[in-house]
Amino acid sequence: MPKLLQLDSSPLENSISRELTREFVKSWKAAHPDGTAIYRDLAANPPKPLDAAWIASSYTPEDARAPEQKAIIASSEELIAELEQADEYVVGVAMHNFSIPSVLKLWIDQVVRKGRTFSYSANGPQGLLSGKKATILVASGGVYQAGTPAEGMNFIEPYLKAILGFIGVTDVKFVSAGGASQLNAGKVDRETFLKPVLEHVRTLAA
Ligand SMILES: Cc1cc2nc3c(=O)[nH]c(=O)nc-3n(C[C@H](O)[C@H](O)[C@H](O)COP(=O)(O)O)c2cc1C
Repeated sequence: MPKLLQLDSSPLENSISRELTREFVKSWKAAHPDGTAIYRDLAANPPKPLDAAWIASSYTPEDARAPEQKAIIASSEELIAELEQADEYVVGVAMHNFSIPSVLKLWIDQVVRKGRTFSYSANGPQGLLSGKKATILVASGGVYQAGTPAEGMNFIEPYLKAILGFIGVTDVKFVSAGGASQLNAGKVDRETFLKPVLEHVRTLAA
């Protein structure tokens, strides 16, 4: 049975990236009638920031962990289990200050764990998740497509490509809904703005 993990990171209810992930899931469910989706709203339930106790627990070998150390990393284990169980991920990303929302960074810090999602081998670091596919749906006020002057300011794509690759997720596609500032300024209506992006999203989900 195929399984999809949906993550949302925008704090806004009328968020564009949320509308894109909703559309992706709708098309994915139509294409996979026997599939199931897990939903994680990172803005509504932000993962905890890493602290000294978390780092100590995570670097203690599993069989040597005290019960209270196990409790400290229980939510990290839960988030990693979702990554392991799902075959496919869809992530809604609102561009905040040229990068990802802080709640998505908190999630990354909880799931990138030595011995769980990556390890070090003689050939260097090795990602432990394999055969997974990720679709990242990015909404931004400006336009950052290749060849545009602002291209180099988009830190979302290179960072997510690098960090997902680091844990073994190398099949990563990005869809960009760039230029939302035009929408917020009333220069284009939401339907016109979203139509081509939603079409693209539907083709990737099918
Ligand atoms: C705090 C904040 C920071 C933002 N930073 C940027 C930015 O650096 N570059 C940009 O193009 N748009 C920026 N925007 C605009 C958002 O990316 C845009 O509104 C987008 O639609 C957000 O996604 P969402 O609709 O899913 O929340 C910012 C918006 C907010 C609220």
